[in-house]
Amino acid sequence: MAKQRVTIVEMGLRDGLQNETVTLTPSVRLELIQKLVNSGIRRIEIGAFVSPKWVPQMAGSGELVRSALRLQKEKRISRNIEFSALVPNEKGMIMAMETGIREIAVFASASESFSKKNINCNIDESFARFEPVIALAIKNKIKIRGYLSACFGCPFEGKISEAKVVKLARRLRDLGCYEISIGDTIGVATPNQVESLFKKIKKVVPAKKIAAHFHDTRGQALANILAAYYLGVRTFDASVGGLGGCPYAPGAAGNVSTEDVVYMFQGMGVETGISLDHLVAMNPWLTEKIQHPLATKAGRVGKLIPSGRI
Ligand code: HMG
Ligand code: MG
Repeated sequence: MAKQRVTIVEMGLRDGLQNETVTLTPSVRLELIQKLVNSGIRRIEIGAFVSPKWVPQMAGSGELVRSALRLQKEKRISRNIEFSALVPNEKGMIMAMETGIREIAVFASASESFSKKNINCNIDESFARFEPVIALAIKNKIKIRGYLSACFGCPFEGKISEAKVVKLARRLRDLGCYEISIGDTIGVATPNQVESLFKKIKKVVPAKKIAAHFHDTRGQALANILAAYYLGVRTFDASVGGLGGCPYAPGAAGNVSTEDVVYMFQGMGVETGISLDHLVAMNPWLTEKIQHPLATKAGRVGKLIPSGRI
């Protein structure tokens, strides 16, 4: 049987750094990109074209994208690396297009209250803001990813209905998103809930177009990834070191750590294309830049327990 393969979409530079107290300069962020690329990561969400008043950590995203694309042009970063960035509205899209980026991501919420806190508008208004973004993306052949957040629960509203999530996932699909990332923004889901919701989403969005985006607030993220994997999902969002959280979701922890996801799939014989050793080697550098110990487990244990020997 052919070896199974998964794709990891690296979130550290955006979802990770947006919730860290230190703000890394674009040049340190570029160094992080180079380290991630050297580890074998192929898809990187590089930043966000959002208001710096709302998320100051993402300031300089334009400069960062330009530098990364310049390195690609100079063949110092492979042209196979795919960079994307969050875009909430037409203003952000114009700024994104000025950099030459080839992929953007729009983000909606399955919770009205979370939408209001995160982007200052309700769900319908957020889709109205996407319209000019999508039109520009289609016109300029820019790929569009879609996020749906708070799919399993909202810090302000509690439980979110599955039917609502499915309806919004279909709405993002109809907009032209080539992939829809289903987010457990506050890390409340358990594997049975993932199974139940993803089975329903698969009826409107094929598994190959679904990405799973789990935050590890309650330690359920790997179990939830496995539940999604067994349903045919093959794209997973993860953040190096387990960086981050969400500035507008109180108490949210970071995304599941890239190291932990790579360790799990490596142990299962599933190809990620990413070198765990490279990620582990980055840990001291990243810890120093972030100025606190990282949440990752596999990244912290590192070479003390080499995976091949247990
Ligand atoms: P607003 O205040 O409603 O917007 O914010 P506005 O149109 O009234 O503009 C207010 C000011 O922002 C103006 O500037 C605009 O020019 C400026 P001022 O006149 O005050 O100087 N502005 C912008 N500046 C830069 N880039 C832009 C932009 N648009 C307007 N694109 C807005 C609306 C969307 C801008 C704001 O709410 C915002 O930036 N929110 C960002 C929220 C965010 O980034 N959240 C984190 C990402 S979502 C997430 O983490 C979930 C996810 O990971 C999935 C999951 O975990 O489930 C994706
Ligand atoms: Mg997130």
